[in-house]
Amino acid sequence: MGFSAFWVEKTEDGFQRSVIEREIDDLPDGDVLIEVRYSSLNYKDALSATGNPGVTRNFPHTPGIDASGVVVQSTAADFAPGDEVIVIGFDLGMNTPGGFAQRIRVPAGWVVKMPAGLSLHSSMILGTAGFTAAECIDKLEAAGMTPASGPVLVTGASGGVGSVAVKILAHLGYEVAAVTGKPEQHEFLRGLGASELLSREDAAAGADKPLLAERWGGVVDTVGGDILFNAVKSLRYGASLAACGLVAGAGFQATVLPFLLRNVNLLGIDSVELPLAEKQRIWGRLANEWRVDLSELEESLTLDTLSAAIDRIFAGAMVGRGVVHL
Ligand SMILES: NC(=O)c1ccc[n+]([C@@H]2O[C@H](COP(=O)([O-])OP(=O)(O)OC[C@H]3O[C@@H](n4cnc5c(N)ncnc54)[C@H](OP(=O)(O)O)[C@@H]3O)[C@@H](O)[C@H]2O)c1
Repeated sequence: MGFSAFWVEKTEDGFQRSVIEREIDDLPDGDVLIEVRYSSLNYKDALSATGNPGVTRNFPHTPGIDASGVVVQSTAADFAPGDEVIVIGFDLGMNTPGGFAQRIRVPAGWVVKMPAGLSLHSSMILGTAGFTAAECIDKLEAAGMTPASGPVLVTGASGGVGSVAVKILAHLGYEVAAVTGKPEQHEFLRGLGASELLSREDAAAGADKPLLAERWGGVVDTVGGDILFNAVKSLRYGASLAACGLVAGAGFQATVLPFLLRNVNLLGIDSVELPLAEKQRIWGRLANEWRVDLSELEESLTLDTLSAAIDRIFAGAMVGRGVVHL
């Protein structure tokens, strides 16, 4: 049986994108065959679709690091036809054909059962970006952050990770400050729950100083670069920053002073190789105490409109979450 898939090919003119028909037999071996209903567009998918070798080495390729869908066939005892499931991360969409297709076949160890409280659709409005926002908040809270710690800064706030982080933090009673390069999105961010808005320039000012005034009770940083370390220098005594992204740069100027003088923590976040049990636990929080209505964040995409959305990611122009309806 054939199915439609987004397809990235390496040609003499660079990487070309199209939508093609594929056969189930084209998919790699795996325990669980899934009829994909929704996927979502993440920054990493845009890297894969443009040939970034740090994400995808072999072309032609179908990107898509996220998928929700229904099990069609399973050789694993844990899954049966008809089960609703989520797959994010591991190798999906990197060097394994990904969720920008109507079928995927993956190892059972990558598959999370849909928790009650989430749907095939709502889980992909979240996708890896929303999951990562939750992972940041989970780790910050484990390090002691509470609404009494002080305002929480979210950088890259209008993007996928940032916008979900703003929404969940506000839902949990945190005062949220949002850094955005898009003044036209201030109202959108206020609507999600941000009470203070900073420009990227505000957030990058003072990069030459060893310490800045203590402001933040926690930080969700999605951009990296000097904005990240400026935020570390502005943490209140004992507070933490969760670092998950690098759109502003992978490197930054740093000293050990904030760590030595203010007892602050820089926390690393990886959603890809996080063990399945931890993924299931965090999806469970998103389905229960962290469940929020994210429908206002969705931009509906299809395989045919994905290519233009990928270009907007690199222009830093994406707002909210691109959800691919398969
Ligand atoms: N560690 C993990 O497991 C993990 C998981 C998911 C994502 N990530 C990473 O997290 C980052 C964000 O992912 P995403 O899916 O949220 O991407 P996204 O939807 O493209 O959002 C990124 C946002 O960053 C801001 N931005 C863009 N270019 C910038 C620049 N040059 N300087 C400062 N800010 C800039 C923009 O927001 P404003 O205009 O509002 O500033 C943009 O909307 C990416 O680096 C991604 O690879 C990591």
